[in-house]
Amino acid sequence: MRQKMIAGNWKMHKTNPEAVRLVAQIRAGLEKNPVRKTRVVVCPPFTALSVVHQALKGSKIGLGAQNLFWEEEGAYTGEVSARMIKSTGARYVIVGHSERRRYFKEDEHIINKKIRLALKNGLKVIHCVGETLEEREQNLTKDIVGNQLEWDLNGLAPEDLKNVVVAYEPVWAIGTGRTATPEQAQEVHAFIRDILDALIGDQVGARMTILYGGSVKPNNAAGLLAQPDIDGALVGGACLKASSFLKIIQASEKS
Ligand code: PGA
Repeated sequence: MRQKMIAGNWKMHKTNPEAVRLVAQIRAGLEKNPVRKTRVVVCPPFTALSVVHQALKGSKIGLGAQNLFWEEEGAYTGEVSARMIKSTGARYVIVGHSERRRYFKEDEHIINKKIRLALKNGLKVIHCVGETLEEREQNLTKDIVGNQLEWDLNGLAPEDLKNVVVAYEPVWAIGTGRTATPEQAQEVHAFIRDILDALIGDQVGARMTILYGGSVKPNNAAGLLAQPDIDGALVGGACLKASSFLKIIQASEKS
């Protein structure tokens, strides 16, 4: 059985007091309606990792960062290393998000270095892939997603993939209110499993948790999560309010 997961990507939202308030609400919601099969992860900004870790003490909610730098340490003003992230108590890190690819020009070499370094330091990776609208309209979805998986995960062994969760996030669905239909998402998720088997071997595709991301909301989560190859969601906008994040978690529990 693959692990189900609902992860919240807070992006550049929440000051420390706001972050502590939000996790307290999520925690209270999960104490009322405990989850049995879904791993819940929150990914606040770097500045809030330590305080959120404190606020999560004694709960099963996982903590992740949204980015890391690709070197262990050194003169890289403004950057944050894997060890620093680990020292906050975080155990996950998002790598390859389309906003980082787009605004910070992260390419497959950078993403590959980041994934390797995160894994080397014992962090679990939430690795995002996805095509733009233009690429989808040109029928290039599978080429793009296949290439991203091939190059971003280059050199990794089946063993490494135990600590990687893939998130399929079509760029045209992120923050736009436009979601992929459950069928569109399912088709790409099944393709991702096949390509992972072909690239990495050892039937890793069948075992890996693959999330869908892109305008997941309480009203569309159930349909997406009912698909056989969708194991969970990476949620942006709807994770910033405890009530909507909790509803998506409950949809996962029922799926
Ligand atoms: P969204 O973001 O849910 O706001 O579309 C998802 C993501 O970027 O991970």
